[in-house]
Amino acid sequence: MPNPTHAINILAKSIKLNAGDEVLSTNLEYGAMDRTWNYYCKAAGAKYIQQPISLPLTSKEAFIEEFWKGYSPKTKVVFISQITSSTALIFPVKEICEEAKKRGLITIVDGAHVPGHIDLNLAEIQADFYTGACHKWMMTPKGCSFLYAKPEFQTMLDPLIISWGYQIAAPSNSQFFDYHQFNGTRDFSAYLTIPKAIEFMGKHDWKRVSDDCKNNLLEVAPKLFELLNTKPLAPLTKAFFGQMCSAEIKTTEPEKLQRLLFEKYRIEIPVMRHADKCYIRFSFQAFNTTAEIDYLIQSLAEIKKDTLLIG
Ligand SMILES: Cc1ncc(COP(=O)(O)O)c(C=O)c1O
Repeated sequence: MPNPTHAINILAKSIKLNAGDEVLSTNLEYGAMDRTWNYYCKAAGAKYIQQPISLPLTSKEAFIEEFWKGYSPKTKVVFISQITSSTALIFPVKEICEEAKKRGLITIVDGAHVPGHIDLNLAEIQADFYTGACHKWMMTPKGCSFLYAKPEFQTMLDPLIISWGYQIAAPSNSQFFDYHQFNGTRDFSAYLTIPKAIEFMGKHDWKRVSDDCKNNLLEVAPKLFELLNTKPLAPLTKAFFGQMCSAEIKTTEPEKLQRLLFEKYRIEIPVMRHADKCYIRFSFQAFNTTAEIDYLIQSLAEIKKDTLLIG
């Protein structure tokens, strides 16, 4: 797949929703995926239910309980991120998929941020469908992702782009591959880097590298929350955070703040709107240092003192 957006679009197009059906999700999903579900649910007369999740999260159990409040007998599909985008939180998707199965629901996990970031074991999670990007934490070139579908569901998926793989002259042993691999002429070279990325991570003991990043993140994060006078969005532990952390930031002009951080301070960092809130999200990759986070905090302190961009 070129990206998780493409993968989720295949699923939303292919799962036959009927009028009245519900797709259960949270209010913390990636905006492009919300738009995808809104589009296909509207077309079918179905409903996209974005169950409100209270922040800060307090425990895995409390999250699960709150999530299922969005369930109704009309629920047909569960769609959930394993790591959220603007809030950078890890959700307990294994437990959600387990319960969803008991209730007879189709499960789709958006793991865009997961590969190379936190442990991923598809056999344990048991989602019917799972998408992940390699172009984020595995550091491959952009346009490099995957869609996993349980074998029994593979033939129900329509290609998003109809090309030579449909009504194929010489079928392979997988309709899944035939339908989805060829989307017209494009540059496929990014995909070829995946084995090298895996080899690179193996050679450099990436579990340790990633763990160091996570430890550094948990150490410096409190300083950011103190400066912004806000609380972490969940207990600061590895159960809820990987190599990213978001803090709510009081600003009416997130785009301007992001530009200032880049142009004046040379810091590349997302400052995102999510519903009526804004979040600043810092990431810790192998090449980052705690000194850089200290510099971010100093820069934010200076902005807070000199401008009205942070309230
Ligand atoms: C949770 C989540 N889902 C989906 C996506 C979509 O990724 P892409 O733009 O590569 O399709 C992102 C991108 O940041 C994301 O964070």
